[in-house]
Amino acid sequence: MTNRHVAIDGPVASGKTVAARALASSLGHLYLDTGAMYRAAAYLALHYGVDLDNERAILALIEHHRIRLEPDEATSAGYRVEIDGSDTGTKLFDPEVSSAVSTVAALPGVRTAMVSEQRAIASEGPVVMAGRDIGTVVLPDARFKFYLTASVEERADRRAKEFAERGLDVGIEEVREQIEERDRLDRNRAVAPLRPADDALLIDSTALQAADVIARMRAIIDAAP
Ligand code: DC
Repeated sequence: MTNRHVAIDGPVASGKTVAARALASSLGHLYLDTGAMYRAAAYLALHYGVDLDNERAILALIEHHRIRLEPDEATSAGYRVEIDGSDTGTKLFDPEVSSAVSTVAALPGVRTAMVSEQRAIASEGPVVMAGRDIGTVVLPDARFKFYLTASVEERADRRAKEFAERGLDVGIEEVREQIEERDRLDRNRAVAPLRPADDALLIDSTALQAADVIARMRAIIDAAP
């Protein structure tokens, strides 16, 4: 039987996680935001003062600390990330972690560890997985693949609003520069760079509401045999 996995990839603030969470809940699939796993690795590196390109030390941190994602509808993200049993709250979305994460996510050994964990989770049952390499590397056989894009202006605007909601005062220009830098690193890394899978459906969400994006994806899933 073919799987029912849904892979959603795209650059920073393209609307992946909102769409993935809503789809997972309406389909009854597990929702997995793989970016959170890379953020947890970056957080550990920063917390223990390890250089962001020290692959060996970061792998040791991942091995020695238990990173777990627990579905939790009471949180704004829809899940909690626990490290060694402690809730990380909003720490993984702090600007320092966001600036560090693309460097950590470019380390091949870190990717190997994360991908194997992500595949193990998908082997348990249908998932909606959001990330950068889900359709290309993690679940190349996913039944449904979407690649979301949006203009950098729109994405910067969305991210600046999220920061403001969290009481963080980050100027729009700074947000835009951070987004462009992360996109550049994610697209140009040697291993599993950000790109659409050949068989992914591209959706440009620049002029769309999240609900329209979700409805478009849902229509495709529902129409499939
Ligand atoms: O989706 P996000 O912004 O939370 O992702 C954080 C970083 O993790 C992003 O800059 C790139 C990396 N990432 C990745 O390399 N592969 C994934 N599947 C998910 C995220």
